Amino acid sequence: MSLSLLLFPALGFLLLLLSKKLTPPSLGCLISFYQNRHRLLTWYTELLSESENQTIVVHRLGAPRTIITANPDNVEYMLKSNFSNFPKGKPFTELLGDFLGLGIFNVDGHLWSLQRKLASHEFSTNSLRDFTVQVLADEVSGRLIPILENAAETNSVLDMQEVLRRFAFDTICQVSLGMDPSCLDMSRPVLPLSAAFDSASEISAMRGAAPVFAVWKLKRALNLGPEKDLKDAVKVVRGSVDEIILRKKEMMEDESGGDLLSRFLGAGMESEMVRDMVISFLMAGRDTTSAALTWLFWLLTNHRDIEQRAAEEIKIGSDLGYNDLKEMNFIKACLCETMRLYPPVVWDSKHAANDDVLPDGTPVFRGNRVTYFPYGMGRMEALWGKDRLEFRPDRWLDETGAVRMVSPYKFPVFQAGPRVCLGKEMAFIQMKYVVASVLRRFELVPVRDERPVYVPQLTAYMAGGFSVRVRRRGNVV
Ligand code: HEM
Repeated sequence: MSLSLLLFPALGFLLLLLSKKLTPPSLGCLISFYQNRHRLLTWYTELLSESENQTIVVHRLGAPRTIITANPDNVEYMLKSNFSNFPKGKPFTELLGDFLGLGIFNVDGHLWSLQRKLASHEFSTNSLRDFTVQVLADEVSGRLIPILENAAETNSVLDMQEVLRRFAFDTICQVSLGMDPSCLDMSRPVLPLSAAFDSASEISAMRGAAPVFAVWKLKRALNLGPEKDLKDAVKVVRGSVDEIILRKKEMMEDESGGDLLSRFLGAGMESEMVRDMVISFLMAGRDTTSAALTWLFWLLTNHRDIEQRAAEEIKIGSDLGYNDLKEMNFIKACLCETMRLYPPVVWDSKHAANDDVLPDGTPVFRGNRVTYFPYGMGRMEALWGKDRLEFRPDRWLDETGAVRMVSPYKFPVFQAGPRVCLGKEMAFIQMKYVVASVLRRFELVPVRDERPVYVPQLTAYMAGGFSVRVRRRGNVV
């Protein structure tokens, strides 16, 4: 999913000016930009930590003035206190609009609040939670464990990132649509829906990253290249979901399912709105959990003592029901610590509806892009202390071993405020379930020694995947 847009496309077409102070951009830094082009995330993090208010202003030719902030007061202001002045805005929603239509993920105002109310209600029910745990149990025992068993048996190399991505797509499809695409079953051909979904999200993301701002609009008008492919992919995604809706409606005359689609149709929503809504859920819940899990498993291979503590938290004989999962504080701390360092969504932007001033004094003009930057915030000494670059899950726990409350504006990996990620609790259930199921049986051994590279795409991923060999854990819990 996400929703972060690439701010820094190919160099040749950029005019980038940065200002660490509040008023007009003072520092023309094309040369620095060129020198730092391979380490932009780190460079931006450094500029933000050096800035006295943890905020910088970026100018890119043809794009709106962009304010990037790692200042929790600013983040709280834009995401909560003055929420209505910071919608996603047209520059964002038109990039994903052809794909996501009027789904919750890509709309503002009335259309958003209507869908949010309905979806929040469903997400708060125990029945959806139980349904999710059942889907996870089946996917883990029927597919994930056999794949890992087989890799352990044959000493073969497995790309854990790809396995986790497929796992996440199977799971989110079953929870959202009540349909199992069986992506993790490698013996079956890839479903047209999965392939088209991948292609549509990739091309939509490329729109934001194109070297010449908004050139995709011209290509779309002429139905050229990737824009034609996008059109075809969207047709397949919508056609597949429409078919599922038709079938679901017929089935619902007899019985209603536990998935989101059945719930939204049961609430009397129109088919087209439901279609866009569930496509948004697939988009949002698809690659995020797998990204976090990939980085966590890699971090654990470098911190075997922490891995051992996580494995010990899994109760012997536990069937990983909701209550068992709820009690896994140390595993939750490991997940939070992973996402602090490697957030699945690197940055996320809003567009000011009217002129404004952020709490740190930065002026905002109507139409400006305001971006909060979870990656930089997770690595800011002012927020996390001198050991900020260390993987130390204990920082999330209090003296009693309970998970500490941390302001979501200091740790906005799930966004925060009225538009906070709807799937946050579901994501933790899923991630804990996978971590516990894997750690109680297996140990992963990376094939490569080098430090993996974090790539900030729509959802951040590990360049080249995460190749591992799988060993059975000695003391199976
Ligand atoms: C580790 C996992 C996850 C992370 C880090 C994450 C993060 C985020 C972030 C940053 C946003 C705001 C993005 C934006 O507005 O552009 C968001 C929104 C959203 N997320 Fe998640 N997400 C995760 C998993 C999930 C899952 C599993 C679901 C599934 C069902 C989900 C459903 C949503 C929805 C529906 C929204 C839109 C909410 C709205 O606009 O009102 N997310 N998520």
